[in-house]
Amino acid sequence: MLSSVTPRKVIILLASGLLAFALNASAQQPPSEAQLAEQLKPFKVLLKGALQNGLTGGTLAAMEACQLMAPALQTNLTSAVVEVGRASHRPRNPANTVQPWMQAAHQGYLNGSDSSPQRLELADGATGYIEPIYVQPGCLQCHGSVLAPEVRDYLTANYPADQATGFALGDYRGLFWLKSIPPKRPQ
Ligand code: HEC
Repeated sequence: MLSSVTPRKVIILLASGLLAFALNASAQQPPSEAQLAEQLKPFKVLLKGALQNGLTGGTLAAMEACQLMAPALQTNLTSAVVEVGRASHRPRNPANTVQPWMQAAHQGYLNGSDSSPQRLELADGATGYIEPIYVQPGCLQCHGSVLAPEVRDYLTANYPADQATGFALGDYRGLFWLKSIPPKRPQ
């Protein structure tokens, strides 16, 4: 009778039980740092793609692409359970200011005492996730100190309150953020 329960079957049963347990746990527990980083990826990848795609048409085309695509991607990737965005102490888009829940992490990045991503439990039950952004060589044409005249003109016309120039290579530029909101339980 018991001969039908081979070690192989036991292993399969155990494995499927563990899997069910893991799935169940992940449905109920707040997301881990790795899961949050994974959730943020589409926003980062699509933004980078939009910038690189724009740059094939030159700096001004890329500027237009950023202006159009950054807010559009942010809106489209935001749902009832996830919000994404960018924030900076020196924003170009005035909508990208540092929100109170990001302040402590942001200050650490700004004064250089920290440079690692952070997972935060927020007061409203959501889980926050933040990654610092640093200036790379390709950013300087739009965020550096020496700008082409047409880039300056574009910024004056489209971002009259721009604070996002004068950065140097390696400077802390701002952060990516994500808020994971727990789904509402059925009443
Ligand atoms: C072609 C010009 C261009 C390049 C190159 C560029 N940016 Fe930007 N960046 C912009 C524009 C335009 C915005 C404002 C987008 C908007 O309206 O939301 C912006 C916004 C940002 C923001 C959001 C905060 C804010 O200031 O509003 C961050 C962070 C940022 N850029 C970082 C970078 C980094 C890092 C690089 C290099 C990897 C880079 N940018 C390259 C044009 C550029």
